[in-house]
Amino acid sequence: MKRLVVLISGRGRNLQALIEAQRAGHIPAQFAAVISNRADASGLTHAREAGIPTEILPHAQFPDRAAFDAALAGRLRALRADIVVLAGFMRILTDGFVREFEGRMLNIHPSLLPKYAGLDTHRRALEAGDAEHGATVHFVTPTLDSGPSVIQGRFSVNAEDDAASLAERVMERIELKIYPQAVAWMARGELKLQDGAAVLRGRRLAQPATLADLEEAFR
Ligand code: GAR
Repeated sequence: MKRLVVLISGRGRNLQALIEAQRAGHIPAQFAAVISNRADASGLTHAREAGIPTEILPHAQFPDRAAFDAALAGRLRALRADIVVLAGFMRILTDGFVREFEGRMLNIHPSLLPKYAGLDTHRRALEAGDAEHGATVHFVTPTLDSGPSVIQGRFSVNAEDDAASLAERVMERIELKIYPQAVAWMARGELKLQDGAAVLRGRRLAQPATLADLEEAFR
């Protein structure tokens, strides 16, 4: 069984979806731990209720980014993490950290990458007048929100939408489906990072997978 470590900073809705999918037998892996850089992250409750060990690594207690990342890498090594899942982990990671876990670390981002790396994605999509919006799961590489995309889900933006309504639809309709699917592919060994590209069941993804590629269990 592969060992998953999920890193969070906040609410943990993606974490909860992963927990439910794993419990239902759709992700063949075990949770080694959930680590938060914030003691008050409400997502920690989901982990505790599921009986998953939790750890808090408060970034403010480290002198700089490198020291925090070194401590985090140490915990991931000690936990023997096979797969590192960034689920609303709001930290910019150093190159050294990313290189150590490259190919084993996924992130979910609330935009149709390569659009809107960084923060405030829903507002930026509205201001640009985008007809579509969504979310993307990608491998983490040193450039922020720029690693090879694995799966992306999209929907149409309505005239009545505001940033809050977009955020809710991105979460409900897209994130909570595509992340468990991507983590399941990783856990089964079907998804790999090879020569800088995402490879699913031996096929290089020239375009990310879409909602149409979700298996029944993840729809
Ligand atoms: C999600 O929308 C996720 O895509 C986003 O934070 C939210 C976390 O929600 N991540 C990023 O913006 C990463 N740059 P959650 O804690 O309820 O899963």
